Amino acid sequence: MTLEETTMTFTELTADLETPGPDWRRTAVVYQIYPRSFADSNGDGIGDLPGITHRLPALAQLGIDAIWLSPFYKSPQVDAGYDVADYRDVDPVFGTLADFDAMLDKAHGLGLKVIVDLVPNHSSDEHEWFRQALAAAPGSLERERYMFRDGRGENGELPPNNWESCFRGPAWTRTTDADGTPGQWYLHLFDTKQPDWNWENPEVRAEFLDVLRFWLDRGVDGFRVDVAHALIKAPGLPDQQAAEKAADDAGNPEGFFNVGPMWDQDRVHEVYREWRALLDTYSPDRILCAEAWVPSLDRLARYVRDDEMHQAFNFDYLESEWDAAHLRSVIDKSVTANETVGAPTTWVLSNHDVVRHVSRLGLPAGPRPNGIRADDLQPDHELGLRRARAATLLMLALPGSAYMYQGEELGLPDHTALDDDLRQDPTWWRSQYTEAGRDGCRVPLPWEADEPGLGFGPGGATWLPQPTAYAELARDRQLEVEGSTLEMYRTALAFRRAFALAVGSIEWAPAATGVLQLVNGELTIAANTGSEPVPMPDGELLMSSVELDDHSVLPADTTVWLLTEVFNESQS
Ligand code: GLC
Repeated sequence: MTLEETTMTFTELTADLETPGPDWRRTAVVYQIYPRSFADSNGDGIGDLPGITHRLPALAQLGIDAIWLSPFYKSPQVDAGYDVADYRDVDPVFGTLADFDAMLDKAHGLGLKVIVDLVPNHSSDEHEWFRQALAAAPGSLERERYMFRDGRGENGELPPNNWESCFRGPAWTRTTDADGTPGQWYLHLFDTKQPDWNWENPEVRAEFLDVLRFWLDRGVDGFRVDVAHALIKAPGLPDQQAAEKAADDAGNPEGFFNVGPMWDQDRVHEVYREWRALLDTYSPDRILCAEAWVPSLDRLARYVRDDEMHQAFNFDYLESEWDAAHLRSVIDKSVTANETVGAPTTWVLSNHDVVRHVSRLGLPAGPRPNGIRADDLQPDHELGLRRARAATLLMLALPGSAYMYQGEELGLPDHTALDDDLRQDPTWWRSQYTEAGRDGCRVPLPWEADEPGLGFGPGGATWLPQPTAYAELARDRQLEVEGSTLEMYRTALAFRRAFALAVGSIEWAPAATGVLQLVNGELTIAANTGSEPVPMPDGELLMSSVELDDHSVLPADTTVWLLTEVFNESQS
């Protein structure tokens, strides 16, 4: 099936699906832009807002519904912008507020919604209020905006509790008083340069409501809320218990977790109820999406109760093995948990914090690594790409919203042989150079294979080097090339819309071991996660994650979309 044929089917089939469209907050495919690596307009090797504006038509052509931009705010860039020094301004590296407005206008003109990243757990230590806090005395109003505490031990020389930073090392840093003597400690769940806000302080709450208003008034369609489960800490900041710590460590390799007095406290929901009330005063349909690494899908569903956020990332799905039984169980649990609160389910396979799914699925089953180094076991690229394409076709067939990470439509792997000296993720040095961290998935995108820097920006500079494999995967090598990963995404996104899969529901059909077979509306979807081919299910083959010579078998590591019999009958 070519895209032209797809487009025709799409037009025909959507004719009566138009007004009023389904609520985008329940169905959208959201494309994550990581601004520093998307497209560069000024040749400094770092992506920027004008670069995004310039490349937006390519995203409209892909067939997504919305974009989410990782932070572009004023920041010393210690954690690639997740360390915000001014929540109401654009960092000069990325452009200006006027560049933002131009980008927003262009996106809206192309029919794309725009979600921005809000980082409410911590600021940069270069934020004006943190500078004031450091200069002020213990107990002052300035210090009350952050989490300052006296140390333990005879002279306050020990940190106030045993919490560790998600980027490794202690979660507390001691300050130095004006006279040069050691002072209080402040909490930072991430880097030393990312002090945690004090969400018990009404002034902080008011400030963030104002930040939300600032961007809503500018016309953004909503917010992705960074570490949404961290804002409120347990009263008294008790030590993390050994069992909690063990569960936390087992949780996920990036350490963004999950069990203990700093995570997922019930009172954090007060904050989101307030934000939701504010959003509801804006028309017509703004969104809040939680990044919350919590221990269960039931806990996650609490963030999307009907007076809180609209969506939450489904990291259990991202973390599932390429295994039919595991995937089915996560899909069922996700749908059930969200149905209890009336929220849409979301699906995601990659983002800027994890090894891309092409690389992940090319590794033997086991715990996900936090980055891959040149000396580590290297992923099997061919297998990884094949599985990643199959995993993507499964994801895009599921009802609800799907999140894509820039470059996955090109089938990009991580850079798994990056020179250690170039690493910028604070995890690298905070872990005493034992954990690679997240740079491998953050490499500048390849747009045109024959241009310097693969077309990332004028002059060819890129803030991280691109692996040689990226040239062949450049967008211009794949656009309108039958069988390319890019065309697979475009076709799948068009069919997803045409067959209204996002507003559908799942019914499981019996299937061989290792195979998932489900019906969503007019389509049957089958994914063979096993190592042996199985007979092809009934139905007319609409698309496949790999090219199939023989339509009677469904090979290993392949997903197909078929028109089910009901549809065939109505055609005859
Ligand atoms: C989130 C972001 C991650 C960042 C962290 C601290 O998990 O996705 O990139 O490092 O929060 O802000």
